[in-house]
Amino acid sequence: MRYGYFDDDAREYVVTTPHTPYPWINYLGSEKFFSLVSHQAGGYSFYRDAKMRRLTRYRYNNIPADAGGRYLYVHDEGDVWTPSWLPVKADLDHFEARHGLGYSRITGSRGGLTVDTLFFVPLGEDAEIQRVTVTNDTDAEKTVTLFSFVEFCLWNAQDDQTNYQRNLSIGEVEIEQDGPHGSAIYHRTEYRERRDHYAVFGVNTPADGFDTDRDTFVGQYNGLGEAAVPRSGASANSVASGWYPIGSHSVRLTLAPGESRNLVYTLGYVENPDEEKWADDDHQLINRRRAHDLLGRFATAEQADAAFEALRAHWTSLLSTYSVTSGDEKLDRMVNVWNQYQCMVTFNMSRSASFFETGIGRGMGFRDSNQDLLGFVHLIPERARERIIDIASTQFADGSAYHQYQPLTKRGNNDIGSGFNDDPLWLIAGVAAYVKETGDFSILDEPVPFDNEPGSEVPLFEHLTRSFEFTVENRGPHGLPLIGRADWNDCLNLNCFSTTPGESFQTTENQAGGVAESVFIAAQFVLYGQQYAELAARRGLPDVASRAEGLVEEMRTAVLKDGWDGRWFLRAYDYYGTPVGTDADPEGKIWIEPQGFAVMAGVGVDSGAAEQALDSVGELLATDHGMVLQYPAYTTYQVQLGEVSTYPPGYKENGGIFCHNNPWVIIGETVLGRGDKAFDYYKRITPAYREDISEVHKLEPYVYAQMIAGKEAVRHGEAKNSWLTGTAAWNFVAVSQHLLGVRTDYDGLVVDPQIGPDVPTFTVTRVARGATYEIAVTNSGARGSRGTLVVDGTPIEGNTVPYAPAGSTVRVEVTL
Ligand code: GLC
Ligand code: GLC
Repeated sequence: MRYGYFDDDAREYVVTTPHTPYPWINYLGSEKFFSLVSHQAGGYSFYRDAKMRRLTRYRYNNIPADAGGRYLYVHDEGDVWTPSWLPVKADLDHFEARHGLGYSRITGSRGGLTVDTLFFVPLGEDAEIQRVTVTNDTDAEKTVTLFSFVEFCLWNAQDDQTNYQRNLSIGEVEIEQDGPHGSAIYHRTEYRERRDHYAVFGVNTPADGFDTDRDTFVGQYNGLGEAAVPRSGASANSVASGWYPIGSHSVRLTLAPGESRNLVYTLGYVENPDEEKWADDDHQLINRRRAHDLLGRFATAEQADAAFEALRAHWTSLLSTYSVTSGDEKLDRMVNVWNQYQCMVTFNMSRSASFFETGIGRGMGFRDSNQDLLGFVHLIPERARERIIDIASTQFADGSAYHQYQPLTKRGNNDIGSGFNDDPLWLIAGVAAYVKETGDFSILDEPVPFDNEPGSEVPLFEHLTRSFEFTVENRGPHGLPLIGRADWNDCLNLNCFSTTPGESFQTTENQAGGVAESVFIAAQFVLYGQQYAELAARRGLPDVASRAEGLVEEMRTAVLKDGWDGRWFLRAYDYYGTPVGTDADPEGKIWIEPQGFAVMAGVGVDSGAAEQALDSVGELLATDHGMVLQYPAYTTYQVQLGEVSTYPPGYKENGGIFCHNNPWVIIGETVLGRGDKAFDYYKRITPAYREDISEVHKLEPYVYAQMIAGKEAVRHGEAKNSWLTGTAAWNFVAVSQHLLGVRTDYDGLVVDPQIGPDVPTFTVTRVARGATYEIAVTNSGARGSRGTLVVDGTPIEGNTVPYAPAGSTVRVEVTL
């Protein structure tokens, strides 16, 4: 069952009913100011950091769900409704929510009135614009009153939910009825002391009234759905003092038959330098100049429209870097629009703010951010460069890493644990991808500190060396890498042995056993160790390169010898040196991560072990909804394995379909030349292919979710945790670079499609290093066929198209 449809030409998903199985959201903003917006206008806004600088309040875990947003109440001769359906929930004659690239447009009609609101964050602005069009669809004059509503969060989102003894006394606002560009409400809580920022919520017309006190607006013991002021039909002109500051303006409109009127609301963040903080000598009135400038830039609908067009053009240009026309509309819309869009959102958010992540818990993950980079480096290489330097600057001199850093300070912290021994190697993955995309080897010379300590700077390449050496130095009894607290699988905590309820497996004491080893990190070392060796060779360090290659070969041998169970790769050795992920165990016999990663790294391809491992995956892990993480799931708590078995069978890391690792198998299948299998697996988890089962999948059909419940789960096929997941980047890598097979390399563009017979012809347009490659593929789908290439009419050997000068267009014909 569907709850909407893709409008491919507009690059929008159109939700056609408010009654989706879960709020289906979108993100606004791409620089510093961000908003989350659901199809019912729920969500919140923040400046740079969802924890420290939250502008508006949202209630996670609330009933009814999706509580808190920017709402526009309509009072039409006693009939009160909201065009976003929530919060009033009055039936609508028409409802539509269009989620587009960096904007959403929600339209509701009732009683002959249509209200259409376009929400977006303009480029270069720290503000959310709500551009409203109100239309009288009847043939009689209509007089209606609109009441806007936002509820201010007292900046620190965590404190906002915990510190009521203080917070209920500190709320402050300023009200401007006749400002230079209409009416505005200023949220200035804590500005009197150390904050240099305030929020402004304005409308581009003199309002008929205002409210800033929530209890007055909503009415004691009411919910937002029964808000008192919209019902009464007139603002109460309430002034907040402590308690709960809000922003609301009422605007009364008389519309002739068929007439439309526009309004522009602006929710902005303003920061003042210390010496410009105040408008008066007594330090009582905030300096509104910057706010007025902002409101002045959106004083008319035409100004808002121009900013919106600039945003559209920005996305058109971003997405022109990679596109496909394949005849499979689901494939095209995922590759051309939604998968890349989700990659940009993970670039902006990491794992901080979604409808599953509160914006309070996590900052920028070391491993997550490096992997996210694989999905957006082609879109914004300059920002990828900056991101790499930020990440590497938090690394320790011994090569190990903080698990995360905070976006505001860019400093690493141990808040969600430390000692994850896979972390360092992801840096090599990120840097290699960046250099292949850009050819910018100079980044390797960039001076980068350790742990942000001034004076400790060494060239970035040295950081990669430390990453590589960290694994070399931390090997266990079988010559496999020690796992530390965990590897990619945060929940495989082999040195933890926690028996205290509620204790975090990530931060509790970890026993330094020196025995527990990870076959996953071993495979990771083979893959990224090779990439490190290649970078060293290209840097003119043949000795470093050949030593690294030797160590990689050692590891490959160790994996095949002691990391192999007979029909698949083992997962690990535990604290006692006992194998994990072996057929000998009744549960957790086979785990997905080492199978996919080892084959991606080429381990066992010659000996047939790789093929055997992926056949076992197909037999034991694959389901119609994707491949489960391990099988059988654990049915009881396994103290020696850590968090993994805390999840009920079939969920999350305990036998859930953890979508992030499915593309490793997909890529692995392409390494084996089995494109048909790869494409089949791709479709099972890719949201556009799951749109028809939205009632089962539940979450947005346009973005990946982190997890789909596995075959042993009660709700097999149900997704959770959409948007902020490494699934986005890895699936884009899988589909763009391996299924469609177009990827940047050091010396040229590699064209090596492996997608099977379902896509007999397709064209890819790829812009790389300033040149445009038009690649037309005729595909027999035969397994293992590597294709022949004709470049600008001339056949070439191999499958690397040499880079052409910037500005040129290269035509590539591929037959396989
Ligand atoms: C989450 C984390 C990621 C981890 C994965 C598996 O997605 O963000 O870092 O690798 O879970 O545990
Ligand atoms: C990862 C896992 C999650 C776990 C968290 C912290 O993000 O996906 O299941 O709870 O790490 O342990």
